[in-house]
Amino acid sequence: PGLNTLAVAKGKTYFGSATDNGELSDAAYTTILKNSKEFGVITPGNSMKWDATEGTRGTFTFTNGETIVKFAEANGQKVRGHTLVWHSQLPSWVSSGGFSAAELTEIIQTHVTNLVTNWKGRILHWDVVNEIFNDDGTYRTSVFYNTLGEEFVSIAFKAARAADPAAKLYINDYNIDGTGAKSTAMYNLVQKLLAAGVPIDGIGVQAHLISGSVPSTLATNWASFASLGVDVAITELDIRMTTPSDATKLAQQATDYGTVVKACVSVPRCVGITVWDYTDKYSWIPSVFSGQGAALPWDELLVKKPAYAAIASALA
Ligand code: G3I
Repeated sequence: PGLNTLAVAKGKTYFGSATDNGELSDAAYTTILKNSKEFGVITPGNSMKWDATEGTRGTFTFTNGETIVKFAEANGQKVRGHTLVWHSQLPSWVSSGGFSAAELTEIIQTHVTNLVTNWKGRILHWDVVNEIFNDDGTYRTSVFYNTLGEEFVSIAFKAARAADPAAKLYINDYNIDGTGAKSTAMYNLVQKLLAAGVPIDGIGVQAHLISGSVPSTLATNWASFASLGVDVAITELDIRMTTPSDATKLAQQATDYGTVVKACVSVPRCVGITVWDYTDKYSWIPSVFSGQGAALPWDELLVKKPAYAAIASALA
């Protein structure tokens, strides 16, 4: 039936995949990506980021993001917008800083308003702010935090809500999969911002995981997030291993994918799961973690791995 079909039948909103513009010329790849029975939601991996959309102050480029939005729309799929305010992949005119608080506020508002308005009504979720915490739960140093303190978060969410009231607005991070200091920081911040009337609809759990080391507290942590009154989305799932893979490692990985999907199934407000691309052919892992990879449910030849059946079975 396909992973998205199964997820929807299970009461979820979607099962989805990230993609990137360069991959769309690979016909064998897009044949699978465009199948809305497998993927109901697509996330652009790079083309909506700040460096890709506002490389020069006040000059906006939507071409590559639009290509992916049109691809999804043509295939009956929805889009997760990724990502509006992030310390990484910033153009140097932003990252070099030197702004007053008022000026940076205006810069954030202009960026967020232009992107969200451009795709108004066409984006299911926006990752409004991304990766704002260190692993110990303190705030990450960035031009945004250094200039505005935590206020930059509310500034971004309010601008996004004003520009497209229909999009669900997410705060997204990694290493908030299981319980721990970083998850506690996320919980506390979202609780505080909701109490202050900041429009946050969901917590995005990236879930860049390691096979054999998947936290045992996923469902507990996600239920705790949901208890704040927000949705939870698994936004960038992959489960890496030391390469090359073998049957034993692939079996462990399948177990791990099953664990993650079952955790989402068990939390009613876990609305969907996105894999950070669906095939090992286009995974970011080997270029960043030397000697690791094979992290996705389809292999480099676009053949389904044991993880695929484990996901399907967890959704069945
Ligand atoms: O587009 C250029 C190309 O023109 C150039 O020839 C080539 C040479 O290096 O680089 C290309 O840009 C790369 C870009 O991906 C597109 O492929 C960048 O070098 C590379 O750094 C960039 O990596 C992306 C990474 O974010 C950057 O932080 C990955 O594709 C993307 O999957 C990854 O996604 C992030 C999420 O946004 C946030 N969470 C973590 C996740 C993994 O890092």
